[in-house]
Amino acid sequence: MASVQLEAVHKTYGSTHVVRGISLEVASGEFIALLGPSGCGKTTTLRMIAGLEALDAGTIRIDGQEVDGASGRVPPERRKLGMVFQSYAVWPHKSVAQNIAYPLLLQRVAGSEIARRVKEALDWVRLGPFGDRMPSQLSGGQLQRVAIARALVGNPRVLLLDEPLSNLDAALREELRGEIAALRARLGTTMIFVTHDQHEALALADRVAVMNQGVIEQIDAPQRIYQSPQTAFVAGFVGGANRLEGRVAQGRFVCGGVEFTLPPGLTAADGPAILAVRPEALELGGVGPSLPLLARLFLGSATEYRLQLGDTVLRAVGPTLDVKPGASISLGLKAAHLYPG
Ligand SMILES: Nc1ncnc2c1ncn2[C@@H]1O[C@H](COP(=O)(O)OP(=O)(O)O)[C@@H](O)[C@H]1O
Ligand SMILES: [Mg+2]
Repeated sequence: MASVQLEAVHKTYGSTHVVRGISLEVASGEFIALLGPSGCGKTTTLRMIAGLEALDAGTIRIDGQEVDGASGRVPPERRKLGMVFQSYAVWPHKSVAQNIAYPLLLQRVAGSEIARRVKEALDWVRLGPFGDRMPSQLSGGQLQRVAIARALVGNPRVLLLDEPLSNLDAALREELRGEIAALRARLGTTMIFVTHDQHEALALADRVAVMNQGVIEQIDAPQRIYQSPQTAFVAGFVGGANRLEGRVAQGRFVCGGVEFTLPPGLTAADGPAILAVRPEALELGGVGPSLPLLARLFLGSATEYRLQLGDTVLRAVGPTLDVKPGASISLGLKAAHLYPG
C-alpha cells in the first residue's frame, strides 16, 4: 500500500475547466471518498491518479514518486494500481478464475503461484466455489465482486473505485458496501472511492472529500463533515439541509417575509446570510412562523412535510401529524448553520 498526493491539479477539456486546483494527501492505508454531484470532476480526478488522463498543471505523487507533473508521466501499467468501475468490465468470454488471473499473467507470475493467488482472491470476495463459472452465469453483485478480486489480486499499491455500487439494486448495494468495508479492514489497502452517494461515503471512508465544480470544498472525517459542514453546499449535499437566503438581525434570521429565532449557541453579526437547516432540525409546531403545507409524505419511520416559504419549498421531517395540505404548521429551529450571504 502507498500514499497518494495531489498538488494543485488542474484539468481542462476544451473550454471547460473541470478540475480546478485539487490538492489532496491520502495516507498509506487510508480510505478516502471523493463525494460530489454528477459532473463535479470526480471521475476525471480518479482517472488522472490512474494515469488514464494527463494533467494540465500540478503534480501527482504515489509513495513520494512523481507519476505526473513537470518531470513527465509514468504510464498507467507502471503505477501498480487497481481499478474498479461502475460497469463491471468483466471479460465475458473468460471464466471467473481466468478474469481474476489476468493481471498476474501480465506480471508473468508462475502458474502454481497464480492458482494459489486466484483462490485467495476468490475467498476475499466470497466467490470461493465460482471460479469455473462464466460471467453470464453471475448476478450484478457477483460480477462486481469478480472485478474487485481482479483489481486486488496483483497487490496494487492503491485501489481506485469509481461508483462501484451504483449499478446494483438497493439491497445488493448495501451488502457489497459492508463487504468492501470488511475487505478493507482485512487487507489494509489504500483506497480512493468515488461516489455521489453521501451514505456510502460517510459509512465507508476514514475521510470524505466533498467536491463541487472541480474543487474540494471540505475534507474531514465523516462525523465532522456531517456535524460541521464548512460551506452551505456541503450542508446541502450531505444531510440534505434546506438552504435559505436572507439576513441576520438581532438574533433572528429573516427571509421570505418571515423570521426565525436562531437556536441557542448560534450567533452571527447582523447582515446578509445563508441559513442551512436539516429537515429533522425543523421543529414542527415550534415557536416560529406558520407556513402553508404543500404535501405530506409518509416515509415509514417518520413523515416528511413540504412547506412554502416565499419562493422556497422547505422540507421538514418529524412525527406523523394529523394535518392536511392547505393547513399551516408553525416551525422553530432546533439547530442550524449560518454562512456568509
Ligand atoms: N473526455 C471528456 N471530454 C470532454 N468533457 C469531459 C470529458 N470527460 C469529462 N468531461 C466533462 O467534465 C466534467 C466532469 O466530469 P466527470 O469527472 O466525469 O464528473 P463526475 O465523475 O463527478 O460525474 C463534466 O462536465 C463532463 O461532461
Ligand atoms: Mg463519474
